[in-house]
Amino acid sequence: MVNIREITKDTTWLGGSDRRLALFENLFPLPDGVSYNSYLIRDDKNVLFDTSDASIAGQFLENLGGALAGEKLDYIVILHMEPDHCAEIADVVTRYPDVQLVGGAQTFKFLDQFFPGLGKDSRLIVKEGDTLSTGNHTFHFVTAPMVHWPEVLMAYDDYTKTLFSADAFGTFGALDGGIFADDHDFEKEYLDEARRYYSNIVGKYGPQVQAVLKKAAGLDIAMIAPLHGPVWRKDIPWFIDKYQKWSTYTPEDDGIVVIYGSLYGHTESAAETAAAYLRGKSGKDVKVYDVSKTHSSYLVSEIFRASKIVLFCPTYNNGIYLPMAALLHDLSALNVQNRTFAVAENGTWAPAAGKLIKEELAKLKNVKVIENMLTIKSALHPTDQTALEEFVDAVIKE
Ligand SMILES: Cc1cc2nc3c(=O)[nH]c(=O)nc-3n(C[C@H](O)[C@H](O)[C@H](O)COP(=O)(O)O)c2cc1C
Ligand SMILES: [Fe+2]
Ligand SMILES: [Fe+2]
Repeated sequence: MVNIREITKDTTWLGGSDRRLALFENLFPLPDGVSYNSYLIRDDKNVLFDTSDASIAGQFLENLGGALAGEKLDYIVILHMEPDHCAEIADVVTRYPDVQLVGGAQTFKFLDQFFPGLGKDSRLIVKEGDTLSTGNHTFHFVTAPMVHWPEVLMAYDDYTKTLFSADAFGTFGALDGGIFADDHDFEKEYLDEARRYYSNIVGKYGPQVQAVLKKAAGLDIAMIAPLHGPVWRKDIPWFIDKYQKWSTYTPEDDGIVVIYGSLYGHTESAAETAAAYLRGKSGKDVKVYDVSKTHSSYLVSEIFRASKIVLFCPTYNNGIYLPMAALLHDLSALNVQNRTFAVAENGTWAPAAGKLIKEELAKLKNVKVIENMLTIKSALHPTDQTALEEFVDAVIKE
């Protein structure tokens, strides 16, 4: 059954949602699925912006046929050569053999790595500032290197003022029938997933996102059409402001996130008690997570949101408890900056996790580690009450 929707003049969304995939990139949990968006503009010439993942190939190809309504396809624009949007290029070329492929020079290099020689006699190489005119619509190409692939292009249609933004401004989460962000309560239903998508997939590339936001500021944008998640036609400045914060590693709020590791529950109990004091004494939002239970992509996302992070960690074979060590590795790989951390360690014979964690945090840019460190010998006891409260007070005061 064809499932398409006109989103603006001559422009049809013809993507699809996948609710079966467990892990995006075989890495990030997808409890609410994901959408792969593709767009067809029907003009004197018909142009398709990207294809889809192989998982929704059947729906995508049926939608493309429905949207073309018997007309021919003139161009496929490849905004970046990543398989979640390019898996169906060969199938589209087989069905519409006269189609011309449009992309950056490096895109065609990658195309040849995935599909050797595909459409080799009908390739149109574009670069920053080039345009593609289809009649009424003229598409202006803007490069967005390393957001989050090397050769990402965005395209701006000056007729409808639509920015085809590639993976930028995308989110995890299937579409629930509403193609526009304003069909949903986006803040409630998608914002956490949009942040998790951004922080884990694009988070490392803040300066590159900043460069694109500067280019976008020079465009009169009425619509943003990303490759995942809903299309934006209202409240665009609100969402751009989120990207502004995320790409400058600026906290969104002054909440406190407590993340603990614990083998037998004693460090956990200390963390829960500290969280209760933190909330009671500061009145701020406090969230508590078990590093062994919550997937690191959610923890990374929460760290992108909040301004203060409190880590409770057992010493493990003279080192950092492994799931916590993995999280710290993620933070460094994703370039996390501008945060305040506090550290509490546990050890039964030779507590060492705190010092080691501080060494890892010192590798992050512009990160403040609160001097007061809580050391738990196996378990907290009433005699540790003062130390615990002093630790909590130091977190609040900083
Ligand atoms: C396999 C294992 C290895 C540990 N390695 C160390 C260690 O090297 N140094 C240390 O002081 N404590 C070590 N501990 C003790 C923990 O740091 C912690 O004190 C203990 O597990 C109690 O906290 P919990 O209930 O939160 O797990 C180890 C515990 C386990 C189970
Ligand atoms: Fe991508
Ligand atoms: Fe993507």
